Amino acid sequence: MDKILFLISAFLLVWGLRLQSDPASASKGNKFAAVGMLIALFSASIMPLENSSGNYLWILTPIVFSAVIGYIIAKKIQMTSMPQMVSIFNGLGGLSAVLLSYTEINKWILSPESYPGFVLVVLIVSLFIGSVAFTGSLLAFAKLDGYRWSEKLTLPFQHIINLILLFSIAFSSYLFIDSSGGYTFLYIIISISLIYGIFFVAPIGGADMPVVISLLNSFTGITAALTGVIFDNKVMLLGGILVGAAGTILTVLMCQAMNRSLLNVLVGGFSSSGSSSKSDEQGDIREISDSDFAVQLFYSQKVIIVPGYGLAVAQAQKLCKEIQEVLESNDVEVKYAIHPVAGRMPGHMNVLLAEADVDYSKLIELDEANENFKTTDVAVIIGANDVVNPDAIDDTSSPLYGMPILKVWESTSSVVLKRSMSAGYAGVQNPLFFKENNKMYFGDAKDSLQRLSTELKNL
Ligand code: TAP
Repeated sequence: MDKILFLISAFLLVWGLRLQSDPASASKGNKFAAVGMLIALFSASIMPLENSSGNYLWILTPIVFSAVIGYIIAKKIQMTSMPQMVSIFNGLGGLSAVLLSYTEINKWILSPESYPGFVLVVLIVSLFIGSVAFTGSLLAFAKLDGYRWSEKLTLPFQHIINLILLFSIAFSSYLFIDSSGGYTFLYIIISISLIYGIFFVAPIGGADMPVVISLLNSFTGITAALTGVIFDNKVMLLGGILVGAAGTILTVLMCQAMNRSLLNVLVGGFSSSGSSSKSDEQGDIREISDSDFAVQLFYSQKVIIVPGYGLAVAQAQKLCKEIQEVLESNDVEVKYAIHPVAGRMPGHMNVLLAEADVDYSKLIELDEANENFKTTDVAVIIGANDVVNPDAIDDTSSPLYGMPILKVWESTSSVVLKRSMSAGYAGVQNPLFFKENNKMYFGDAKDSLQRLSTELKNL
């Protein structure tokens, strides 16, 4: 019975993932995968267990509690804090891998015939990766949530220290197996692995956190897969492989989106506190009035909107859609240019615009958008900054250098909606604001779009 249920849940997990690759079916895919996970939990619970009587209370109580906690968190979380939530959940996945591996290693210490040597090695690897995922994810959470201390944990010669830590873990593991299971060595392995998790993430710049979270997520997937091997639990193995593979692919895609190698990300080549040599460069900025902005948009032929983090903060997506409709009623062609790392999580802008029922056919990706700007009358940048920073192309000393960006300045004109001249996530000034054909429209995005909408309706 449990094997058939495993098969059904495996099918639902894979099919759910397949559906998630298309925005139109993503929500359905999520539900499929959730049902698959529920069946997996149920089938694992009814698996024959040694001394199974009385275990159901131990299994069901945490499932019910964690389901309630997970539901409440998922309901309450702001979209802009999603990466933090993913980070915490990921860390908890790592912690459970540590606890499972510890329990099984303990079993081996008490009766060495319970596992052959290779399983013990798998358990130690799982213990190591789970520990790194646990403390690494907690630090990633702290960095994303803006805890200042989290940016100050790097030591001098950090990368050499990290290599020494890795070597110490490998050596302690050897001594542990060689001594046929001394608890001292086991605790040393766990402690150094937990410390390594912190130092693994510490040198990585704040803006690179999405990549790191995705990488840690793939680590958790790998530990789940390893645990599946140990418990001979096929659905755990499959789920782990799916998470591990998806996390790895996402990591690679994000690195490509920023034109960086994973190694460059991991050694901390991009720091949130970094500043380019021209970061304080100033010039004259030009502001645009409500009526001029409205007239300019209303009598354009083609407008491209570039949404960014600020649009999500202001929750102004519905107003944005309203303005799109007013413009379209005057035969203005309106598109949305989506940068792969705009906002604070992969697909953030897609989700935001979907919330406002913006048709998916209106969204264009980076390459297509860059081809379109040359024939665009007005590029409207709403709460975006780093993803339209020309220094990414022009200034080799900029921390953004090499990241593909939206070349909004190639449009006839651009208008930036933001509250002040403050920097974006990478902490650097944006020369776009000082360009001849750019104008600033200051204010909270919601207030600004409300003003603009009123003006447009009066035309
Ligand atoms: P950012 O560069 O972070 O710029 C956002 C801008 O929005 C800020 O300059 C801010 O300026 C403005 N803003 C904030 N609240 C606003 C509001 N209520 N109304 C109007 N404007 C507001 O955003 P981006 O261009 O979307 O770039 C994303 C950055 O985050 C990249 O550096 C990326 O690497 C990083 N990142 C991305 C992710 C993923 S996976 N998407 C995850 C973590 C980090 P004011 O304060 O002057 O208003």
